[in-house]
Parts: sequence; structure tokens; C-alpha cells
Amino acid sequence: MNTRCSLLRLRRKQFIPSLLSLLSICVLLLIYTKYSYINNSFFPPDIQTFHRYNINCSAIYDMDPVEVGKSLIIRTKNVVEDRDESLVNFTSHCSTFLQFRGYNDVCVSEEERDFPLAYSLVVHKSAWMVERLIRVLYSPTNIYCIHYDQKSSAHFISAMEGLARCLPNVFIASKRESVFYASISRLKADLNCLSDLLGSEVKWKYVINLCGQDFPLRSNIELVSELKRLNGANMLETSRPSQSKKQRFTFHHELRDASFEYQKLPVKTHQTKSPPPHGMEVFSGNAYFVLSREFVVHFESSAVVKDFLNWSEDTYSPDEHFWATLVRLPGVPGEVSRSQPDITDLMSKTRLVKWQYLEEKLYPPCTGQHVRSVCIFGAAEMRWLLNYGHWFANKFDPKVDPILIQCLEEKLQEKQKLFQLHGSLNCPKG
Ligand SMILES: *[C@@H]1O[C@H](CO)[C@@H](O)[C@H](O)[C@H]1NC(C)=O
Ligand SMILES: *[C@@H]1O[C@H](CO)[C@@H](O)[C@H](O)[C@H]1NC(C)=O
Ligand SMILES: *[C@@H]1O[C@H](CO)[C@@H](O)[C@H](O)[C@H]1NC(C)=O
Repeated sequence: MNTRCSLLRLRRKQFIPSLLSLLSICVLLLIYTKYSYINNSFFPPDIQTFHRYNINCSAIYDMDPVEVGKSLIIRTKNVVEDRDESLVNFTSHCSTFLQFRGYNDVCVSEEERDFPLAYSLVVHKSAWMVERLIRVLYSPTNIYCIHYDQKSSAHFISAMEGLARCLPNVFIASKRESVFYASISRLKADLNCLSDLLGSEVKWKYVINLCGQDFPLRSNIELVSELKRLNGANMLETSRPSQSKKQRFTFHHELRDASFEYQKLPVKTHQTKSPPPHGMEVFSGNAYFVLSREFVVHFESSAVVKDFLNWSEDTYSPDEHFWATLVRLPGVPGEVSRSQPDITDLMSKTRLVKWQYLEEKLYPPCTGQHVRSVCIFGAAEMRWLLNYGHWFANKFDPKVDPILIQCLEEKLQEKQKLFQLHGSLNCPKG
């Protein structure tokens, strides 16, 4: 900028009027750059986005010790908490929100246009993380259902409604549950979204569920190409349950005020349950799925599935056996036959979770923090996460390590652009 300004000075005599206007442009640009550096969310000044940290993400990916060290210092000293209210404010000006979060600049390749994806987001707090999840996976051709918890704060709910108002392909689940940990409500939240998603005009090919502590490890265009290769199969964990896991569905459970942490929790009673309906064999897995449209259409109208859902009402964490069992039902689209070996969480690419007791046996140690033996990832795990092969990972928390989330966003946007280079693109005008 300085060189440009001094070059102009050479022609001072001939072009004094234009020189003056160019000089003022230079000054304005300088102010603008400086301002944007200080404030991060450069314009308009009274609206705040989430906090962005000054860090070199390529160096984090390269595990440069100085940069990783810097991220540790930020993590212990300078974490800025993003407030739900600021997203409420931001989404109250939709055009500004869409422009400044880059939604207007998202290009769509032919491949992505012909392969729309649906998302069921079951969330209850941290509005900005929900926005960032949607943004990093965003394609105008996809469709996103947000199920917020009936117990969520008013600000969080307004922020979610703001997202749904500003983005035409984001909507709030028409029926919402009060979600309690390990209870049937968690499963019903996803089912409510699935039912709405089937009713949507978007003819999505696959549906993926996410919670607020998940983050993708693949960009939209990469997901599309991976999902195409599934060829109609579903992707989820489905294993034979251990003896201790079997207790979760062989005994009647009751939702009780048993836990300080979770408020209510399903508690095991001595009453044994009748076997599952229709001679079903129960498999166990986790709450996360990647399901084909055909599979979801099939069970929407299935009496067997309705009976199984009812039977699951008083089990512990039914979401962790519901999908795993249904995909093993003979004749379902994308069936995994009952005789097939277990598909473990390490084989299914839906979610990479780092369990404390398997660290240093199956994977490198957690560089974030443990919560109930699950790792909340840290920045030094970025490369491992991206190269492991899974499509999504859990858990992330901006209060534990905001740098990792920021750097994954950067990397995924880079990858999205890189992979899009090969095809023909449809970009918004202007
Ligand atoms: C960021 O780090 C990489 C090395 O990992 C380096 O090549 C690059 O120049 C750095 N960028 C900046 C802006 O410092
Ligand atoms: C939201 O906007 C109002 C009025 O414009 C302002 O007073 C308030 O500080 C803003 N809140 C946040 C969190 O940005
Ligand atoms: C629902 O399940 C319960 C026991 O799990 C059973 O008593 C009841 O008959 C079932 N209802 C329907 C409509 O199948």
C-alpha cells in the first residue's frame, strides 16, 4: 500500500485531484485494515461474531512446537466465551449475517448439487458452535434440521430461530422434546427431525445426525464423494452387545431425579422386560448414523419399527441400540445381515471418539481434557484427526480448545475449495 501511494506521488503535478482521492482511499484502506485487525469482526462495529484467535493454522497442522505452545497459552489464559446473545443480534440483520459469515459466497459443484445431504442437529447450548457447524458443512443444496431442547435458554432458542429465519434451508424441528441423557427423548429428537426432513422438498440422498460437540473432519464435497461410494449402504456401528450392555434392555428402566449432573436419568429396576417384538435380535452401537434416504423411507411406515420404538421406551440409552438393530433387520435397504461380523466404532466412520482407556493402545493421548473418560480434543491432535479416516469426531469444546475448532474450519474450507477446483462450479453472482 505504501509503495502504491509513493508511486502516485511521482505524478503529482499532472493529477493532483485524482491523487488526492487516491490518497484518501489509501488512508481509508489503512484504517479499515487496522480496524479489522483489532476487532476481527470488522463491520458493522456494533455487531459481534464469535472470537477469532491470532494463530497460524498451517503451523498447528504441521505440529510446529512454537505455534502449538502458543495455542496452549491462549487456552489457559485467553479463552473468550462467545455469547448466544451476539448470535441473536447478528441474525436479527439477516443480510449482514449472511454476507459476513460468507453464506453468500458458497459455490456448488455439479457433484454436490446432484447429491444433497440432510442433517439432524440435536443441540441444546452454545449457539455459535451450532452456527459454525452449519457454516463449515454448508451448501445451499443441503437441508439442515435443528432440534433444540425444550429446556434450552431463551437466548439459545432465539439464536436458533434466527438461523432458521436467515437461511432458507435451515429449519427448526416441528416437534421438540425435553431431552434427558440416556433416555428415549434423545432418540425421539432425531426421529422428529427425520420425519420433517422426509417431508422437505429437498430430495436428499443421505442423512447425518450431529450434536453440538461434534465437528466434521471432511468438507461437504469430500463427504459427497465418500457417500456416493457407499452405494446405498448405511454407515453406523452395529455390534453384538456385551453381557453388561444387555442389562440396558433386558430390565425395565425408570426416568428418575437421580443425578445432579443430568437432572433425570433412566434407572434400572429389578423388573425384567419381555423380549423385543417380532423376534428381533438387539445389536448395540452408538447414537450416530449416516443413513440412506431409502432406509429412512422404509422405516417411516414400518409397524415393526413402531413396535420396536415402543419396546425401547424403558431401556437405557435406546439411541445406542435402535439404529444398530434396525440396520440388521432382514430386508431393509442397505441391510447389514445378522451373520456379518461386528462393525465397531473404529470401523464405522461416523464418529471418531477417543476413549481414555484406549489411549496409547489404539491412538495417541488426548491433548485436550477428559470428561467422563472421553477426550475433548486439543490442537495438537488436529493432524491425527484429519488423517484418521473418519468423517466426524466428538468431542469439541471452544472452552477447552478454541484453536482446534478455528483451525479445522480453516482447513476444511481450504479442502472444499481445492476439491471444487476439479469440477464445474455454480457460484452466486455479485
Ligand atoms: C505459517 O506457518 C507455516 C509453516 O507451518 C509457514 O510456512 C507460513 O509462512 C506461516 N504463515 C505466516 C503468515 O506466518
Ligand atoms: C445486542 O444489541 C443490543 C442493541 O443493538 C446491544 O445493546 C447489545 O449489547 C447487543 N448484545 C450483544 C451480546 O452483542
Ligand atoms: C408398548 O410396550 C409395552 C411394554 O414395553 C407394552 O406393554 C405395550 O403393549 C406396548 N404398546 C404397544 C402399542 O405396542
